[in-house]
Amino acid sequence: SSVTIPPPACMLRPLEVPLRYLFGPGPSNVPPRILAAGSRPIIGHLHPEMYEIMNDIKKGIQYAFQTENNMTIAMSGSGHAAMECAVFNTVEPGESVLIAINGIWGERVAEIAERMGANVHRMVKTPGRYFTNTEIEQAIKKHKPVLLFLAHGESSAGLCHPVDGIGDICRKHDCLFLVDTVASLGAAPIFMDKQNIDILYSGSQKALNAPPGTAPISFNDRACHKMFNRKTKPVSYLFDMTHLSNYWGCDGKPARVYHHTGPVSGFFALRESLAILAERGLEESWEKHKEVAAYLYRGLEDLGLKLFDLRLPSVTTIAIPEGYDWREMLTYIMKHHCIEMTGGLGPSIGMVMRIGLMGYNCEKTNADMALHALADALKNCKKSKA
Ligand code: GLV
Repeated sequence: SSVTIPPPACMLRPLEVPLRYLFGPGPSNVPPRILAAGSRPIIGHLHPEMYEIMNDIKKGIQYAFQTENNMTIAMSGSGHAAMECAVFNTVEPGESVLIAINGIWGERVAEIAERMGANVHRMVKTPGRYFTNTEIEQAIKKHKPVLLFLAHGESSAGLCHPVDGIGDICRKHDCLFLVDTVASLGAAPIFMDKQNIDILYSGSQKALNAPPGTAPISFNDRACHKMFNRKTKPVSYLFDMTHLSNYWGCDGKPARVYHHTGPVSGFFALRESLAILAERGLEESWEKHKEVAAYLYRGLEDLGLKLFDLRLPSVTTIAIPEGYDWREMLTYIMKHHCIEMTGGLGPSIGMVMRIGLMGYNCEKTNADMALHALADALKNCKKSKA
């Protein structure tokens, strides 16, 4: 019974992780205080001290989302986990859902909803364009969905979608309003309660600057009423809110019982990132992102680059300049400046390059570094005319 597969040579070498400036759409660099929180000794996921930390996280998310919703938790998983959790719990197979698509996130939610058997209706615009409230109401009247999805922070297009008034339209037509604020939370204002958003989710790795792997999500009473009065069980056990609400102490039951083992270190880091946001204040964080983004836009325009309107202050999209190969520019920038910027995503691939300056990374000095690297790439990556 001797082993026939030897230890792999790579495992006998030490871990190597390069230092990088993460000026793409996420993950962003994690500040030392959050890294330190994540490296604290592990405790059990069902220890009372862990419940306290989870209760703190819940309060931190309520502040970041501007909501008093009791049903507020963090998913064990990235923004996609929250996206699936929202759809799996509030929609039953055969029900109609309406998805606003102007970038990758709507496409992704449509695919998720189709996989669980929903009747999916798509409203589609090219990346960078937005939906008017009239267009949304007309589509709701036509398709009578139980859920409308909209990305507030469409990171693939660098667009911050207006949200005002859409929640009211949804209420009028008995539809839940689901909003993605993964790329915009902490960078652009969002008010879950005031804007009548029924389900809101985000991610840890953008302006919150925590490591990837946890995802805030909140459901209001309308959403809870729908998801806890289902005829069928949600398709996912891991993402079933009946269990998750108990794990997070949101169901009013005296004891929390084992459901799954949450990412303990990830929760420590998320708590710290929410603490930093609370200490700093949302208004100051929004203002800082606006100011640095405006500074970056000026610098980009001075380089002759073109930008979209309705811009997301956390992720800036630049139209790929003529005469350049975007992949070559990005490789050049990584090689010579150690800076990550990215291309488009989903429908914006080949259309744009993206710069993200989020939370801890959102500083004019970093914008200067990004601009300097871009100017260098513009100088050195131009294709000679054939
Ligand atoms: C991922 O979230 C991205 O926008 O690239």
